[in-house]
Amino acid sequence: MEKNRILSGIQPTGNLHLGNYLGAIKNFVSLQNKFDCLYMLADYHAITTDYNQAEIKNHIFETTAAFLASGLDNEKNIIFRQSRVSAHLELAWILNCVARLGWLNRMTQFKEKAGENKEKASIGLYTYPVLMTADILIYGATHVPVGEDQKQHLELCRDIAQKFNNDFKVKDFFKLPEPIIPTNVSRIMSLRDGTKKMSKSDPSDSSRINLKDSNDQITQKIRKAKTDNEPIKLNILDENSKRFEAKNLISIYASLQDKNVKEIIKEYDGKTFSIFKNKLIDVMIDKISPISNKIKEIQKDKAFIEKILDTSERKANKIANDNLVKIKNTIGLI
Ligand code: ADP
Ligand code: TRP
Repeated sequence: MEKNRILSGIQPTGNLHLGNYLGAIKNFVSLQNKFDCLYMLADYHAITTDYNQAEIKNHIFETTAAFLASGLDNEKNIIFRQSRVSAHLELAWILNCVARLGWLNRMTQFKEKAGENKEKASIGLYTYPVLMTADILIYGATHVPVGEDQKQHLELCRDIAQKFNNDFKVKDFFKLPEPIIPTNVSRIMSLRDGTKKMSKSDPSDSSRINLKDSNDQITQKIRKAKTDNEPIKLNILDENSKRFEAKNLISIYASLQDKNVKEIIKEYDGKTFSIFKNKLIDVMIDKISPISNKIKEIQKDKAFIEKILDTSERKANKIANDNLVKIKNTIGLI
């Protein structure tokens, strides 16, 4: 039987952090044995807003190195650059003619990223979710692991796929992909403010753990991480609890060890955060430092990374181009 297929992507914007690892990359690794997987460096998505032209290639290499260092097997998975598979763009155009303006107008990420002056946003940013839909449908992916923030885009993808199937009277031509959203930690929050998500765009470096931080930096950042003065208690999980920072540190600890948050709270019930932080530092260094070292090692060998991407891109192009012929056929162009 054909294995279910996964497609997911990360924008190669550089400076990968613990949120990217626990919210995305770690899941990619855990899915690689159960599915036939394609993991994409979404470079065409990265150029929809201002980006660093001199750095983007390095960021692509760094993200690829982070995938490999985290345990993604390049023989098992197709790890590739979006911009090297032109069929994505051809399908995106076709789907631009299927998707409705009203649907795109509801996308909250566009509203957030475009800010006050929407007239000044790029058209690419507006039609970004249609390209994302094409990324998924061109491979007939059945499952898409994404963070909570991408859920709306996945719903749009299903609507577009459904409308295509109806419009062209090809029932089940495009499969409707299912999102896979991590339940334990959907969002890692800033170490300085538990109500804001950990992000590379936060001006304070101490708000996040970068995957390339040294052990000393990790230790300092966790020691300085904001907490409250109360000991660890199950009330941290109460719906109306304001102990955001406490909950975040415990979620990080649980996620690093693939354990349940409740289990951890029971283990540390009544203990202070100074005791807990020492444990968290140990676990984090234990998990992150080998990845960090490997990223630095792999990144040195650009030819090696290029070769891996190139090999994968041949495979991706083959699948995508074959499917594009079927799609063009369906809409009457062939
Ligand atoms: P950033 O917010 O730092 O700009 P991106 O938007 O480039 O990160 O996210 C890349 C991937 O990492 C996405 O799949 C996203 O869902 C995940 N991700 C980013 N930040 C976090 C976070 N704080 N917690 C969980 N997942 C995250
Ligand atoms: N938009 C996603 C993000 O910013 C990245 C992405 C692009 C993606 N194409 C995709 C994710 C297709 C899943 C499937 O995180």
